[in-house]
Amino acid sequence: MSADWILPRPDDFHVHLRQGEDLPAYAMEAARRFARVLVMPNLVPPVSEAAGLGDYRDRIRLAAPGLEPLMAFKLLPSVSPEDLLALARAGAVAGKVYPEGVTTNSENGISDLRELEPLMASIAKTNLVVCCHGEKPGVFSMEREEAFLEEFSEMACRHGDVRFVLEHVSTAAAVRAVTELGPNVAATITLHHLEITLDDVVGGMLKPHLFCKPIAKRPQDRQALREAAFSANPKFFFGSDSAPHRKDRKECAAGCAGVYSMPCALEALAQVFDDAGQRDKLPDFVAGFGADFYRLPRNPGTVRLVREDWKVPEIVDGVVPYKAGEALRWKVI
Ligand code: DOR
Ligand code: ZN
Repeated sequence: MSADWILPRPDDFHVHLRQGEDLPAYAMEAARRFARVLVMPNLVPPVSEAAGLGDYRDRIRLAAPGLEPLMAFKLLPSVSPEDLLALARAGAVAGKVYPEGVTTNSENGISDLRELEPLMASIAKTNLVVCCHGEKPGVFSMEREEAFLEEFSEMACRHGDVRFVLEHVSTAAAVRAVTELGPNVAATITLHHLEITLDDVVGGMLKPHLFCKPIAKRPQDRQALREAAFSANPKFFFGSDSAPHRKDRKECAAGCAGVYSMPCALEALAQVFDDAGQRDKLPDFVAGFGADFYRLPRNPGTVRLVREDWKVPEIVDGVVPYKAGEALRWKVI
């Protein structure tokens, strides 16, 4: 087997780059691996209008030349058709729906997708993609994603002219729903949901750095996600949901949700596909299907992975990364 693995330059369709003094380091970490990243808007205040979106994109470009930020804004029922047009003109590619209170900075979210009904005609016109954090507020945490599927499926069927992405799917039920829905529906899958189950988080010692939303589920759910990622079905593509929180915000009495996978995202993803004997499926999953769904050109150029043992650092920019201290086999050059 060759010691090199050449991939088309990849995209990550779901990242958190945060703001202020933390932003440059997180953006650089992404730039080492990905050509483009879809940047989530759950800041305080949120990215929800055109000027703020443009400023945020400029700050990312300045911090990480070479990384192309694809911008998402927080899609709230209060956004007007004029706002949507301005956001699309400012370069937004997606609006992100956060149900109320389900994750970091999702206060003032929506409680039911149908609240967005009055905006759907404008969304269709602007060609914006609707990205959904697919969890129903108020439902038992292991069942939140499944409970969201009904309103999601209804909305996606009613609006075949709008593209929907169910973000970071974590259940077999979500994989099934996305598979069965029309070509206007796709899903992102994270690295960590391909690898862990709830037992890795709370089944032995409590692992706060694996705590995320949606919470990792059952072995059979993980299996369904792996099969979807290896299926060559263009509805499923990579979005890491890399979500850094500083060490003290994770190792405390009320820890934040989020797995900081960026410092090993491409390397560990390669290992997952390699270990499963599915190397040929990685290029489309990480560098093809997402771009196609977003109607973006696939990236020119390649990235080289070499077979070299290395250890994920214990801490990166004040954050404990996914797989901290673990050995990996593939290294990005
Ligand atoms: O675990 C998560 N962390 N899930 C999300 O949806 C948001 C993210 C964050 O922003 O920290
Ligand atoms: Zn996220």
